[in-house]
Amino acid sequence: MTTWANPSGSGTPTRGGGDYDLLLDLAGQRTRAGLEEALRAAVRDGRLAPGTRLPSSRVLARDLGLARNTVADAYGQLVAEGWLTARQGSGTTVAPRPAVPAHRTAQHTPEAPRCGPAELAPHHSGLPYVLWPGSPDLGSFPRTGWLRAARRALTAAPNEAFGYADPRGRPELRAALADYLARVRGVRTDPEHLVVCTGYTQGVGLLARALHARGARRAAYESVGLPDVPTVLRAAGLDARPLPVDADGARVAELGGDVAAVLLTPAHQFPLGVSLSPARRTAVVAWARSTGGIVLEDDYDGEFRYDRQPVAALQALAPDHVVYAGTASKSLAPALRLAWLAVPPHLLDAVVREKRIADHQSAVLDQLTLAEFLRSGAYDRHVRRMRSRYRARRDRVVEVLRGCAPGVAVSGIAAGLHAVVELPADAGPADAVVGRAHRLGLSVPGLTAFGASPTRPPALVVGYGTPPDHAFTHALSLLCTALRDAS
Ligand SMILES: Cc1ncc(COP(=O)(O)O)c(C=O)c1O
Repeated sequence: MTTWANPSGSGTPTRGGGDYDLLLDLAGQRTRAGLEEALRAAVRDGRLAPGTRLPSSRVLARDLGLARNTVADAYGQLVAEGWLTARQGSGTTVAPRPAVPAHRTAQHTPEAPRCGPAELAPHHSGLPYVLWPGSPDLGSFPRTGWLRAARRALTAAPNEAFGYADPRGRPELRAALADYLARVRGVRTDPEHLVVCTGYTQGVGLLARALHARGARRAAYESVGLPDVPTVLRAAGLDARPLPVDADGARVAELGGDVAAVLLTPAHQFPLGVSLSPARRTAVVAWARSTGGIVLEDDYDGEFRYDRQPVAALQALAPDHVVYAGTASKSLAPALRLAWLAVPPHLLDAVVREKRIADHQSAVLDQLTLAEFLRSGAYDRHVRRMRSRYRARRDRVVEVLRGCAPGVAVSGIAAGLHAVVELPADAGPADAVVGRAHRLGLSVPGLTAFGASPTRPPALVVGYGTPPDHAFTHALSLLCTALRDAS
């Protein structure tokens, strides 16, 4: 449904005092989500230019026949995502934003040299109880649904699916992903610009080598983060530079013009759990635009946000400068080794070339199964079920720690599968708690395991995805014992 919101009520569009006309296509969805999408579309299409003032929430609500809170909440969400800006006294305006060139279809080019394998950091120590971040509940893998999807996919697969094929991955999966990513994460791409890869980790290597082959020499990564990332960047021949992270996410103002790419976890910083602030989302897009730099957006747990609407992918603000990366490692299982990159047109050939050199293509049968799993709605159902389970686990972590260790501060819990547990100021180093937990049979990391400087307040990173249900309560009680003993 297209709504012509004319706030004057007289049939004559007027301007001033927050009364603005606005043509919005609500596409039949008279909901907050429908309004948000209509506003995003209007900004994206250029119908709402940067700097345009929007009607006040009161006026727009009246014109659209929506509750005022619905409009105010939609505005708030789009401010958080960087589409709009809100300033006291001057209302809500469209945020400054780079122009987005149209996508084009891939043309593949010849190979280039690459480096050898990276030495990767171990994930954890194999004790009976594990509260490490980074893994979903492996016992909840949807075995029956996956089997059903695999049977259907295999039955329907054409013979050519069993041969050597497009390094970008199966067209069925790329089509299903393009639809899913647009619907759920606001990603702006199409099947032609998706590259299925063997986990995010391979995706980092592909992009790093593609950039290096084009003359890039330096990449920045979040100074507190996934330990493998700088290793993979260096293996690709890049100078990897840490970028400090604070409560607003990565300090993107410290990116220099000599940096070719920056790797970020905007929705839910890993492992600190903060999201990249609206101002920094805008700033990093401006940086990319002015320097020609590339942002690699690691949306590793974008599906698991608990307390409010997810912040849409940064990629939607600048599809020509942001490579969006998603993975099945949190939503389904790391063992699938299935991830995907949405690649800007000008980088596609280079990334596809690296994928072909790396392994020609990711394993096809699981790609076909995932395509069927997505298409049938089983993926959405699984994610929704897991979201409510993880949310319950998160609440349990908070409740148990409040009871047994009231001096700790738990943060980073709005999303994802882990929490940051900051120890009281007088508690001493987190290593004492980690060591004590280890002796009790519980593996739980300190923040320093993710590159945090020892000068940061001591903290643990507690993953709550991993333990099977029957072991979860005991794992938490071991954590409590370790916290108590260490203090
Ligand atoms: C921050 C972050 N990004 C991405 C991933 C997923 O990596 P992969 O797709 O290679 O399993 C992980 C897994 O631990 C992670 O912690």
